[in-house]
Amino acid sequence: MYEKLNEIKEKCLNCKKCPLHASRTNVVFSDGVANSKLVLVGEAPGYWEDMKGLPFVGRAGQLLDKIFECVNLSRKEHVYICNTIKCRPPENRNPLPEEKEACKEYLDKQLEILKPKIILICGSVALNSLLPNEKGITRARGKWFDGPNGAKMMPIFHPSYLLRNDSREKGSPKWLMWQDIKEVKRMYDTL
Ligand code: URA
Repeated sequence: MYEKLNEIKEKCLNCKKCPLHASRTNVVFSDGVANSKLVLVGEAPGYWEDMKGLPFVGRAGQLLDKIFECVNLSRKEHVYICNTIKCRPPENRNPLPEEKEACKEYLDKQLEILKPKIILICGSVALNSLLPNEKGITRARGKWFDGPNGAKMMPIFHPSYLLRNDSREKGSPKWLMWQDIKEVKRMYDTL
């Protein structure tokens, strides 16, 4: 598995399939453990991810780590983290359809090699890539969907959305995330 993932990573590092290669500092392939039951797919690298070559290492990433910590999960031991596209779009704009299309083979291969039991679809860009028929993250979050190789997929809010919504009241995005991550952990423990 590690060898196969390294092959894909090597391809990504040399990839020039879309214009984002010209402005990247680093390709952001993945972080976390590869022998995982749980894979999280985010949107795209931001400033810090591009600088460090690792996904979710900025403010949103720190919040994501805290959310996992609440249910005793961590990227060091339990979670593999990647994005729908591997290079940072300028000014953190949403990836263009042609950029997502160019990068799709890499995400598809990652999932094919890892065969995770659970895929967390983090935010609306990832939702659009993995469940294009779903109408929006607010409606889809918290529900289980069938994924590749028998995986169970759950869309969840993106942590940067939670950073913009501070309330913890019942029904708020943070409260909903807490419900979702508890359900994810419950399922994780049964698989
Ligand atoms: N947001 C994402 O979706 N992915 C990252 O890697 C960082 C921020």
